[in-house]
Amino acid sequence: MPADGIARQIAERLESASWIREMFERGLRLKAKLGADQVFDFSLGNPSNAPPSAFFDALAEVAAERDPGRHRYMPNAGFPEARAAIAGYIRDEYGYPLGDDGVILTSGAAGGLNVALHSICDPGDEVIVLAPFFPEYRFYIEQAQARMVLVQTDENFQPDPEALAAAITERTRAVLVNSPNNPTGVVYTPERMRALTDVLARRDSDANPRYLLQDDPYRRVVFDADRPCAPGGWYPRTILAASFSKDLSIAGERAGFIGVGDGVPQRGRLLEALTMLNRTLGYVNMNATMQRVLTRCAGAISDISAYRANRDLLCGALRKLGYDLTLPGGAMFVFPKTPIADEIEFCEILARSNILAVPGRGFGRPGHIRISFAVEPRVIERALPGFEKALAACRTVPGGA
Ligand SMILES: Cc1ncc(COP(=O)(O)O)c(C=O)c1O
Repeated sequence: MPADGIARQIAERLESASWIREMFERGLRLKAKLGADQVFDFSLGNPSNAPPSAFFDALAEVAAERDPGRHRYMPNAGFPEARAAIAGYIRDEYGYPLGDDGVILTSGAAGGLNVALHSICDPGDEVIVLAPFFPEYRFYIEQAQARMVLVQTDENFQPDPEALAAAITERTRAVLVNSPNNPTGVVYTPERMRALTDVLARRDSDANPRYLLQDDPYRRVVFDADRPCAPGGWYPRTILAASFSKDLSIAGERAGFIGVGDGVPQRGRLLEALTMLNRTLGYVNMNATMQRVLTRCAGAISDISAYRANRDLLCGALRKLGYDLTLPGGAMFVFPKTPIADEIEFCEILARSNILAVPGRGFGRPGHIRISFAVEPRVIERALPGFEKALAACRTVPGGA
């Protein structure tokens, strides 16, 4: 136990996350000093849309119910009618066979990931994560006593099957994928996803299972015609962890789910483990009210066109200024290269114009920044001169663009 009264491993994790906290705290300080409308905060991935009216209607109906038992504990996997509604949603959306009993209702995709990781990992097992990645994965994986192994994607942030093959060991238990991706907004192509699962399939067996853990909260926040692919349709040992946080704009309601398709090997035992952990990890179930709301509106969606318009506005303008970026196909982020190698220094330069972005190294790819476009369009418009000034400032830096 270190001197500050918290566990050593937690103190280390706090330290490794400190730059994210720093950005967040800087934003708060700047807003207090200058007023919120003078600060261009692109640091948070909090959905900026309103939830759809179907959600509010369902919420009003559920709030009016007075019959007894509505707010008591529910079965650990969720109310049967809510599981059935979400199973129907998964079948429509992903297109593979999945019985109603293959759904477990969780506290967001994050709750689902934690339940899944604890269900499948023994201490010392390895979970491969494709970088750039959502930084909380490391904490989830280590809390399940497993080890995160990073594998870089290619220069367009697409999975690199050869790099994956080289990283798989006897202890690899899962590969965690997230597409549309946080922080890049990139949607993995079906070809790359297939190549990735081909690599996994060659090493998978009942004695040494290799799961594909699909973290999918951004699935319906996409800007192009094609839906992201659904690897559970061809790689049976897939566990889906997803939520309505982003597409219904209800991230604070913690409405998530796990989906286990009919073809998952040893499915019954897996479901038993997931169901037990949904309780013993500290009741990380979706709450009762939300379960009943989603029973009524599982297929609804908020207006994604606002994110598409923001993507076009921001990415078009940044490219015109000379920023080097891969156009995001979904989610609410873009991950441009920084004009100087040290992206923390570049974040400092942006902060001089009251622009807050997040350095790429915490996402596993230095030399980039994450910009969230879950903001009002006028925030983007008013920040553009600052983005221009920051680029110009780098042209005078040795090694700058
Ligand atoms: C990639 C990724 N996975 C999981 C989560 C957690 O989502 P949820 O709110 O559904 O728990 C987030 C939240 O931002 C995310 O970006």
